[in-house]
Amino acid sequence: MTKIRKVGILGAGMMGAEIGLCFAMAGCKVALKDMSIEVAEKGKSRLAATLEKAIRAGKMDDLQKDAVLGRITPTGRMDPFEQAEMVVEAVFENYEVKKAVWTQADEICPAECIFATNTSSIPITQLGATVKQERRRRFLGTHFFSPASVMKLVEVIPGLETEETVVGQVMEICRRIGKTPIHVKDVPGFVVNRILHAMWIEANRLVEEDVISPEEVDTACKLGLGHPIGPYALMDLTGNELNLQVQEILFHAYGERFLPRPILKQKVHAGHLGRKTSRGWYVYDK
Ligand SMILES: NC(=O)c1ccc[n+]([C@@H]2O[C@H](COP(=O)([O-])OP(=O)(O)OC[C@H]3O[C@@H](n4cnc5c(N)ncnc54)[C@H](O)[C@@H]3O)[C@@H](O)[C@H]2O)c1
Repeated sequence: MTKIRKVGILGAGMMGAEIGLCFAMAGCKVALKDMSIEVAEKGKSRLAATLEKAIRAGKMDDLQKDAVLGRITPTGRMDPFEQAEMVVEAVFENYEVKKAVWTQADEICPAECIFATNTSSIPITQLGATVKQERRRRFLGTHFFSPASVMKLVEVIPGLETEETVVGQVMEICRRIGKTPIHVKDVPGFVVNRILHAMWIEANRLVEEDVISPEEVDTACKLGLGHPIGPYALMDLTGNELNLQVQEILFHAYGERFLPRPILKQKVHAGHLGRKTSRGWYVYDK
C-alpha cells in the first residue's frame, strides 16, 4: 500500500497543485480537482511554468517535464477519485468547505483509500469526524510547506482515531515522494507554526519598540542565524491576513504568549497584506 500509484488532490490552488506535482514527479497519476475543470486547469498551468523554470535551471529536460505534466489530470468532477489510493485535501481553510469535500470523497473513494488533509489550523480529529466511522482510522493530517515541490518537510499528524499503521504508511509515502516527514501530535499550530509565530511576534515587539527596522531584522536572521529568508520577507510571502488569523488561533489555544502585536493588526487594517497586494512590510513592483 505504501507504493501508491493513483492520487486524488482536492483543491488546485497554491498548495494543492504543488502537492500534486510532488506525487507526479514521483511517478504517481494525479487527479487534480477544483470547483470546475477551468480552475483545475489553471492550477496545472502554474505547474507548467514552475517546470519551465526547472528546465532553465538545468534540473530537468523537456521530455521529463512532459512526462510529469502528462500524469496530472485536471478535473471538476469526483469520478476519477473512484480509483484513488490516497486523497490529499487542500481546499480553502474553512471547516464547512472541507467537510463538504470530505463527505463527497467518502462516498466515492475505495474503502482502503487514505485521506490526508493539508489544513494549517483545523484540528485533524474534527476533520476526521466528517467521514464515516470505518474511514476515520485512515484519516490524518499531512501538513506540507510552501512551495511544496521545494520544501522537504511534511508534518504527519494523526487524529484521535487514526491507526498507527496508517501513520507509518503515510510517513513512508512521504519519503517515497522525496520528503522528510515528522510525526506530530494534533495540537493547534502543530510544530512549525508554533515556532515560527513565536519568532514573528518577538520580531514585531522589537520593531514596535524601535529597537530595529523590519529590513534589519531580516538581515539579522539571515546573517546571524543562517535563515535563507528573513521573517518580514517571509511574512509578506505568506500574507499578513493569514499571519494574523493564525496568531489569533494560537492565542486562543495558548494564551498571552501568542497575542498578535498591534503593528501586525495595523498592517492588515491598512491593506498591506504582503506580496499579493504589492505592499506589506516591503513595497513590491506591481
Ligand atoms: N498557503 C500556505 O502557505 C499553506 C501552507 C500549508 C498549508 N496550507 C493549507 O492548505 C490549504 C489550501 O491553501 P492554499 O494556500 O492552497 O489556498 P488557495 O486559496 O490557493 O487554494 C484553495 C483552492 O481550493 C479550491 N476549492 C475551494 N472549495 C473547493 C471545493 N468545494 N472543491 C474543490 N476545490 C475547492 C479553490 O478554488 C482554490 O483553488 C488550506 O487548508 C491552508 O490552510 C496553506
